[in-house]
Amino acid sequence: MFIGIDLGTSSVKMILIDHKQNILATSNSSLTVQSPKDGYNEQNPQEWIDATLECLEALKAKKPKEFSETISMGISGHMHGSTLIDSNGNVIRPCILWNDTRSHKECYEFENQKFDVRSISGNIAMPGFTAPKINWVKNNELENFNKISKVLLPKDYLRFYLTGEFFSEMSDASGTLWLDIKNRKWSNELLSCSFLEEKNMPQLVEGNQEAGILKKILKDKFQFNNNVIVVGGAGDNAAAAAGMGIIEQNQSFISLGTSGVFFTPTQNFLSNTGDAVHSFCHCLPNKWHLMSVMLSASNCLDWICSITNSSIKDTLQNIENYFLDNNLLENSSFFLPYLSGERTPHNDPHIRGSFHSIKTTTDATNMQYAVIEGISFGILDGINSISKVNNNFEKIFMVGGGSKSEFWIKLLSSLLKKKLSVCNQSEFGAALGVARLAMYVDKNIDNNSIIKEIEISKDFEPNMDKINILLKRYKIWKELYSTNKKIASSLLT
Ligand code: XUL
Repeated sequence: MFIGIDLGTSSVKMILIDHKQNILATSNSSLTVQSPKDGYNEQNPQEWIDATLECLEALKAKKPKEFSETISMGISGHMHGSTLIDSNGNVIRPCILWNDTRSHKECYEFENQKFDVRSISGNIAMPGFTAPKINWVKNNELENFNKISKVLLPKDYLRFYLTGEFFSEMSDASGTLWLDIKNRKWSNELLSCSFLEEKNMPQLVEGNQEAGILKKILKDKFQFNNNVIVVGGAGDNAAAAAGMGIIEQNQSFISLGTSGVFFTPTQNFLSNTGDAVHSFCHCLPNKWHLMSVMLSASNCLDWICSITNSSIKDTLQNIENYFLDNNLLENSSFFLPYLSGERTPHNDPHIRGSFHSIKTTTDATNMQYAVIEGISFGILDGINSISKVNNNFEKIFMVGGGSKSEFWIKLLSSLLKKKLSVCNQSEFGAALGVARLAMYVDKNIDNNSIIKEIEISKDFEPNMDKINILLKRYKIWKELYSTNKKIASSLLT
């Protein structure tokens, strides 16, 4: 048996699978995010531990015999978070999360070097990434900076709790900005931009390699029969890709979760820093991937539902009817989905959301439609940015909470002019991905049989009738960003 742990932003999700990858049990425990100021997002790492223990208890209660036969586990996590550890192994301050934009000034400081930072890191310094967060701590909380012994990514802190060991792996480490992405190793030059050294980093492995053994105290507490091996695991997007079997360059996925992601593997290191494309290692050796990230995807939908006092189900139903009428669409208002700034393609921490072309006839449904359309335009922006360096992807899978809406997938399919595929079990995609990575350490399993493409439950084809309307509106929407950008920073306090 194998366990996959997915430390998400809003919950820990866990699965137990057997050697044929049948899902035997799943569990889930919620997490909270603290936002002390606009642009600030933090989490208390103790919550990750409490939720993980709760999920392990739940798996054990559901399938005690199978659970006790666990051989290995993998951990996936939300990326980029900075968990600062002192020399006694204690957490120094709350973890600053991937969607926190406070360190935008520090990005300039990080990149202002005598060497070309971007050519080694493959990426633009963006406030969401780990490195500028450390520069921010140095500039604003020197006392905390001076206490740093290790900087760990969220899932690697969880591993430290579970095993007592400091390890990370290539896919998540890519999002720190301290990794030499092409050569898959820590870069001393990049670390020096954050006043750190390699001794402050965990040891690196590939996602499918051993990275610690579950502590004896936890083995006894949960009554495991074996010494449970913990593998490297993966950042949440690479983990979801492994869960869907997306490791080849003709494959890709769109994730409509809190963040909106387009992800496609590459056989070599490629990058497009001009459009803030993320160029990261994949979670298997000798594989890389490109990724576009929108900071606010389905949380824009949550936001409009809460202010229009409508459930997500009702909202999507309203919009579906609205979408049928081309005349309404052509006159609809527009929405920029930048509730907390944007990464790909703008790398703009100052921009915020806005509605445009509000008329006396604009009603709640129109505004709800504009929100879904604006998020979809943001996804297209990301795909266009990636297509500049790699457009080999033929298969596009849908994943994340938003992928449960058929209407939304139909809209996206028309906008992208591509077939989109939905598959089963996508909610546990990242947990399944790292459970699969855990299988690599079982000598009885053929490694080549582990990662297979997930079964498609339904395909969606573009609707010719909508393509021109949507693309015409996309062109206008893009100009709205250019005009708003000029005043964005003056609107922030
Ligand atoms: C990726 C990113 C998000 C987080 C949270 O760069 O910031 O997708 O991993 O899911």
